[in-house]
Amino acid sequence: MNNVHVVLLNRDIIPGGLAEYGIFYDKYKMKEGLRRQFQQILGIPMIDYFGNLTIGENGDLSLPDLRALGFQSLLVTVGAQGTKWLGLPGENLIGVYHAKDLVFHYNLLPPYGTKDFHIGKRVALIGAGNVMLDIAHWLIRVLKVDEVISVVRRGPNEIKFTKEELKIVVRNLDLAKLESEMVRLQPIADAVGQNVDEAKELILSTLPKGLEPVSTTRFYLDFLASPTHILGNAQGYVNGLEVENTTLVCAEGEVQAKRLGTKRILDVDTVIFCIGDKVDESFGLPIRKNAFVKHPNPLYPVDQLSYEVYDPDLNRPIDRVFVAGWSREASSGLVGVARKDGENGARAVLEFLQSAPRLVDPGSILDELIAKLNKLNKPIIQKPDLQKLAEAEAAEAAKLGLPAFKYATNEEMLAAMGLS
Ligand SMILES: Cc1cc2nc3c(=O)[nH]c(=O)nc-3n(C[C@H](O)[C@H](O)[C@H](O)COP(=O)(O)OP(=O)(O)OC[C@H]3O[C@@H](n4cnc5c(N)ncnc54)[C@H](O)[C@@H]3O)c2cc1C
Ligand SMILES: NC(=O)c1ccc[n+]([C@@H]2O[C@H](COP(=O)([O-])OP(=O)(O)OC[C@H]3O[C@@H](n4cnc5c(N)ncnc54)[C@H](OP(=O)(O)O)[C@@H]3O)[C@@H](O)[C@H]2O)c1
Repeated sequence: MNNVHVVLLNRDIIPGGLAEYGIFYDKYKMKEGLRRQFQQILGIPMIDYFGNLTIGENGDLSLPDLRALGFQSLLVTVGAQGTKWLGLPGENLIGVYHAKDLVFHYNLLPPYGTKDFHIGKRVALIGAGNVMLDIAHWLIRVLKVDEVISVVRRGPNEIKFTKEELKIVVRNLDLAKLESEMVRLQPIADAVGQNVDEAKELILSTLPKGLEPVSTTRFYLDFLASPTHILGNAQGYVNGLEVENTTLVCAEGEVQAKRLGTKRILDVDTVIFCIGDKVDESFGLPIRKNAFVKHPNPLYPVDQLSYEVYDPDLNRPIDRVFVAGWSREASSGLVGVARKDGENGARAVLEFLQSAPRLVDPGSILDELIAKLNKLNKPIIQKPDLQKLAEAEAAEAAKLGLPAFKYATNEEMLAAMGLS
């Protein structure tokens, strides 16, 4: 354990982040495995846990508060909590959502678990990544809506989703529409040296192992379409999505979408952005291009990557502050990638600690932190509380005969831990 005392400060009551509240809820085995890993880590005596505690400029404690307490280093792994809106007219209509909020809703993250979302019958999903497929999964197999359209600004060779995830909904895919899209796109793809048959093969190869459909939802991919305007009715509800047609061009070493100026309207009543997330601007670290700024010439690089936060206005590193996971690179990679990035971030911190001044009285930092937390006037969750919650949820799952059970509100969780 390198003889380092670690204090984990977490916004949510329970640990896990997107492993708990992002990954689709029916992946019981995967989620259970990840929960066990979190439990193992929390079982280490040199690690303290304080949950239900938001850090940031508008949080319970700010980064300067933590620095003032005297921690030798701060490793920021708060994920990518900011929302990437495109600034289109109509984004504030009822029926326009960002995938993250819906994912939090169906995975029961308080307060999203109990929030109302107006999902209609014909839904446009912007983007073609695995998050789009997770939302399609929910719409097609749980809500059983009439139509789901994945609106893709580039072509079939740029889809980001994986075969494994497509299997869940592929048997709802409109194959005639896929074929006509491929015919339409072939000459455009040819012009940039692509073969749409490769993408078509990839999609169709998932059919034999595709899950048996449970709804008649029509699902299709609408390529070379970039959203420009969300249309609404007099009551403020979505009643259409205007998209601009695009074509493919080679620029800056990649295939990009170029807008053509012609537009068309998709007949939808719900629009969900599945275009990735950005870091939280109110966290209190410098941001450029939607990302926390990293030291361009890191002193403690790991695998040639920088984990050190940098102030671009003052042209110097922010002393003692490191960043890892989706906070270092938003919406990038699977949970194993984020875990490895966290380990690498911790490695950078360990390197830094080799030359950091020794702490005279480490225990006093924890005492002062706890004194500050006691003044917050809200329940702060510690390791024994998590144990009680896990037991209460396991008992509830057994009672209801479910593979897993999760409380949807903080109030219920606090009651189960005897903290209300
Ligand atoms: C919808 C969705 C589905 C996914 N499904 C899969 C999948 O099936 N398989 C797979 O391998 N990967 C999946 N991923 C990717 C995986 O979830 C991520 O790679 C991983 O969770 C990122 O980890 P992280 O720790 O960097 O961030 P997060 O998981 O977002 O964790 C951030 C943590 O920081 C805390 N936090 C946030 N803000 C604050 C604050 N201000 N103060 C204090 N604490 C804060 C949160 O409570 C949370 O505990 C999915 C991602 C999404 C979005
Ligand atoms: N089950 C799983 O394993 C699972 C589930 C969910 C998420 N994840 C992982 O989590 C990470 C994030 O997933 P993600 O789906 O959010 O991101 P992603 O894979 O990067 O996909 C984002 C999609 O949004 C599009 N997009 C981005 N900006 C856009 C804009 N301004 N206008 C129109 N379209 C835009 C992208 O198109 P361009 O390509 O043209 O930019 C792309 O199709 C990925 O690594 C993913 O694999 C895994």
